This record gives sequence, structure tokens and C-alpha cells, in this order.
Amino acid sequence: MTEPAVVDYFTDAEVAQSPYEYLAHLRSRNPVFREPHHDVVVITGYQEANEVFRDPERFSACVAIGGPFPPLPFVPEGDDISEQIEAHRHCFPIFEHMVTMDPPEHTRTRTLLSRLLTPKRLKENQDYMWRQADRQFDEIAALGRCDFLADYAKPFATLVIADLLGVPEGDRDEFRARLAGHKEPGTRVGALDSEPVGSNPLQWLEDTFGDYIADRRATPRGDILGVLAETTYPDGTLPELIDIVRPATFLFAAGQETVTKLLSSAVRVLAEQPELQRLLRADRSLVGAFIEESLRYESPTKVDFRLTRKSTEVGGVDIPAGSVVMLAIGAANRDPRKFDAPDTFDLARPNAREHIAFGRGIHTCAGAPLARTEGQVTLNRMLDRLHDIAIDDSVHGPADRRDYRYEPTFLLRGLQELHITYTEAPQ
Ligand code: HEM
Repeated sequence: MTEPAVVDYFTDAEVAQSPYEYLAHLRSRNPVFREPHHDVVVITGYQEANEVFRDPERFSACVAIGGPFPPLPFVPEGDDISEQIEAHRHCFPIFEHMVTMDPPEHTRTRTLLSRLLTPKRLKENQDYMWRQADRQFDEIAALGRCDFLADYAKPFATLVIADLLGVPEGDRDEFRARLAGHKEPGTRVGALDSEPVGSNPLQWLEDTFGDYIADRRATPRGDILGVLAETTYPDGTLPELIDIVRPATFLFAAGQETVTKLLSSAVRVLAEQPELQRLLRADRSLVGAFIEESLRYESPTKVDFRLTRKSTEVGGVDIPAGSVVMLAIGAANRDPRKFDAPDTFDLARPNAREHIAFGRGIHTCAGAPLARTEGQVTLNRMLDRLHDIAIDDSVHGPADRRDYRYEPTFLLRGLQELHITYTEAPQ
């Protein structure tokens, strides 16, 4: 393995395609390792990553998404940079969204979101998932082959969030077209498909939801968006319009790409291993464990970041205030001190659910129950509707020499395309 001093995790094309060996090598040097290119402290240990996730007093989330990019907007001074962080908050990428906030602002915003994600709403959304999965398998079952990502996973993940937020039925096709690049199943990937939910779609979302909420504040209605429009902080005050719109639209950014990646990695394993298909068909109660092991094995959020607020120490390594820490979730979930034979997909793994694919602590993924359900509904419906699911050799090559292309990003782990073949189950 090339020395970590030579490889730049953030830009190396090979590491982006295949990160695990490199990250394991870093761990073998030290589970807490300062890489030289961007001066980032990389945490590949399960225990150590947990410690950082759970301690917002020592580690700020202000750099959660960008990490070392762009560089800090100030030169850190002393052993506690809390005041500097507060003075420069507006300079950090996506500072308006909860994932980069620290308490008390984070607590207020997350409370608003929890008013939306009620057990009742989640149950209704789950019912929608079953119907939507059926509709999408209606589109692709008879074709015998598809690109599972473009033809199923992307539109599914988009429409599930649109339903969660109560987007009117008549507007959903536009959401699918703008956010999941709608095209006829079985045809080539369109230009929009390759674009992540970046600044442009988020702006469109903010405008659209701004209109929905303003409309309902002017003329109250009993729909989900109406409930959102009237949501108040715990002290009874009504949030500014934008403070309601942002947590809502952020769900698309947080829950679309990640779920798409979970679904495709799970289906890849299923299609590669007919024995697993047989096991799941024989005992559907194993589907939950299959999703947990998929989350551990190919964690969709590969890394996450924190800024060290107060000089400290983790795993015996000194970390001065102002250091950017990279929590390598994908590596922590393959730490052999926590998971036996971590590079093997093991359906019977007893502690698979202890993975940290959804993070830990106050920022733990707010959509985790939703993502898990999306995975379970998809696999169950897929097993109902399709037989003999296999990888399409004509695209990905023969079983002993597969060619899979992953998104070339340091942040997420996910396939660009996943071509499968199958037969339609008799109805
Ligand atoms: C498999 C799918 C998903 C994965 C792997 C995932 C992963 C994560 C991770 C690691 C975090 C923590 C970020 C941090 O601590 O810096 C997070 C936060 C978050 N996720 Fe997810 N996520 C998924 C799906 C979803 C879905 C479906 C939604 C909502 C519809 C969602 C909404 C959120 C929100 C709102 C946050 C911010 C929470 C906060 O800052 O308090 N996620 N997610």
C-alpha cells in the first residue's frame, strides 16, 4: 500500500473508487492520524469516532459538510476557539442548515423538524412507500433489465420525501423531473441524473416551499404543508418563514443521495449473491438485518467533519483547537476491533446494528427510521416482484472481473449506475 504521506484522500481518483484499503492502512498506523495534505486529523477507529460524535462541547459541527474546504475563515488562536467560531459562523458552507449548527441554535431547529416527523406522519409515509414501490416495479418488471439507480432508486427516494412533506400530487412529476432526472425506464441516464442536489435545486426547493408555506399562512388548510406552516417553537412563537422552509428543503439534500446509495449497495450485494436472495425469500424477517449490514458494509456517508473547539486529546493523540477532524464513518464501520472480519458482508453479524452510518450524538440522522423503512420496503417489494435478480454482465463485466464505477467524491460512497437483469414474478 502506498504510504499515506503520498496519497491525498481528498483528490486521489483510485482512493475515491476504492477507499477501504487506504483507510485500513491509516488505521494500522493510528486510528487517529494527521494526514499531511490538508492537515486533517483522520479518525478511522470506531470507538474514537463515537467519542467525537458525542461531544459537541469539544467538537463543533460548523465544518460538518465541507471539512477542510474552504479553509477556515480565521486563524485559530489559543486553546478555545468558540468565540471565533461564533463570529464567523456565516462564513461556513451551508451554515443555514442544522447539520452545521451547534447548540442552542441546533436544538431549536431540530425541534421544528421533530414536529414534522411524528409517528403518524411516518406511518402514512410508509404506506405511501409500499404503493410507490409497486408503481415503480410496474414500470420496470416486464423489461427484464434496468439501471436500478436511475430507474428505481433516485425517483423513489425523491418522491418519498415529497410525500413526507405533503407536496401536492399535481406537483410531484416536476419534483421527480427536477431532482431525479425523470426519463423512461430502460433508457440512458439523463444529464440531470449526474448532478447532486447542489445549490441550484436547493434554491428551487426553497422558492417552491416558500410559496407553499406563505400560501398556507395566508389561507390556512388542513394538509401537511398547512401543519408545517403553523408549527411553532416550544415557547409558542411562530418561526420566520425561511426557518420553516430550510429544515424542510434540507431533507431532500440529506435524504435523497444517501438513500439512493443505500438502496443500490444493498441490491448490488443481493444480485451478486443468489444464496442471499434464497435466504431472504425464505425468511423475510431477515430483510431488516440485511439493510443494517448494508449500511455497515458500504456506509453511504463515507466521512463527516468536525472542528476542534477546545484543545484536547483522542485515542492518546493531541488535537489542538482549530484542527479539522474527519470522522471516517465507512472506516469506523470496518474497524476489526469492533466488527469481526469487517470486509465480509455477513447477514448473521450479531452487532451489525451498532454501525455508525447515521452518525451518533445530537446530530444523529433525523431520517434514519425513514431510510431504514425505504430499504426494507424496496427489498421486500423487489423480492415479491422480481425473480433471478443478477448483475448485468454486458455492462459490468463477468463475475470475476466486475467493473463498478463509484461517484468520484470524498464525501459519499455510492455507485454511479447499477445494471441488473431479472425475470418478472408471476402475479
Ligand atoms: C441511508 C441513508 C442516510 C444516511 C446514511 C444518512 C446519514 C446521516 C449522517 C451520518 C448524519 C449526521 C451528520 C453529522 O453528524 O454531521 C445525518 C444527519 C441528518 N440526516 Fe441523514 N442519512 C440518511 C438518510 C436521511 C433521510 C432519508 C433524511 C430525511 C428525509 C435525513 C435527514 C437528515 C437530517 C435532517 C440530518 C441532520 C440532523 C442534525 O444535524 O441534527 N437523512 N444523516
